[in-house]
Amino acid sequence: MPDSRVPHRRRFLVCEPRHFAVRYAINPWMSPDRSVDVIRALDQWQALVDAYRAHGHTVERVAPLPGLPDMVFAANAAVVVGGRVLGSRFLAPERRAESLPYEAWFKERGYEVQHPGSVCEGEGDLAPAGRWILAGTGFRTAPEAHREAQEFFGVPVISLTLVDPYFYHLDTALFVLDNDNVAYYPEAFSPGSREVLARLYPDAVLATRADALAFGLNSVCDGRHVFISPGATALAGRLAERGYVPVPVDLSEFHKAGGGIKCCTQEIR
Ligand code: ARG
Repeated sequence: MPDSRVPHRRRFLVCEPRHFAVRYAINPWMSPDRSVDVIRALDQWQALVDAYRAHGHTVERVAPLPGLPDMVFAANAAVVVGGRVLGSRFLAPERRAESLPYEAWFKERGYEVQHPGSVCEGEGDLAPAGRWILAGTGFRTAPEAHREAQEFFGVPVISLTLVDPYFYHLDTALFVLDNDNVAYYPEAFSPGSREVLARLYPDAVLATRADALAFGLNSVCDGRHVFISPGATALAGRLAERGYVPVPVDLSEFHKAGGGIKCCTQEIR
């Protein structure tokens, strides 16, 4: 079994953190008086891009814009399923201008793009998981956006309620391993949502609070390799026992903004 996991080539969209900074606080991780080392951030981000390419994935880039310090978090800009793009509408006024350049990137390449009618923070809260889309709400993305995503993609959307402000986006509390399984931190979800997850994924890989606080659930899995924060040691061990291969990538500068590996990665499906 340890060698049975098959990797699938993925296509990712990323945004260089040239203008990355922590200038406002819109989640509990952010404190504007803490300085960010932009050179270190650029190096860490480049190491992520290199790791994706080294594992056979395609990485495309959208140009970063000055004045948008969170634009590096490409995952929030859209959800793409079957070549259809549901763009973003950010809750924080500071991030609203990010939607346009990403939607333009897709339109210029011929994609059908819908701009959501209510708060919708892309793959931050909407995780395509094979037969359905898992969708977070409670802090950012509105339940109306879950309905809009279901209508737009014609794929069932399963609403999950997040309850811990440290795990304000679904992708800080859960990631998809393959079409049949996920890894998650149960306490980040409401009791009812925990039950839903247990019902859908009886064999899920469960993470500890320490794993979650180390951004271990903000991971990207290609079916075999899991690009994961090196601090999530217990989770990496559990994944290895299940036949996945953890690929540690340290994005600690981005943790200061409440983001990690998945946040920096938009998947084009
Ligand atoms: N500072 C950003 C925010 O709070 C971080 C976004 C992280 N992205 C993610 N997909 N979780 O909006």
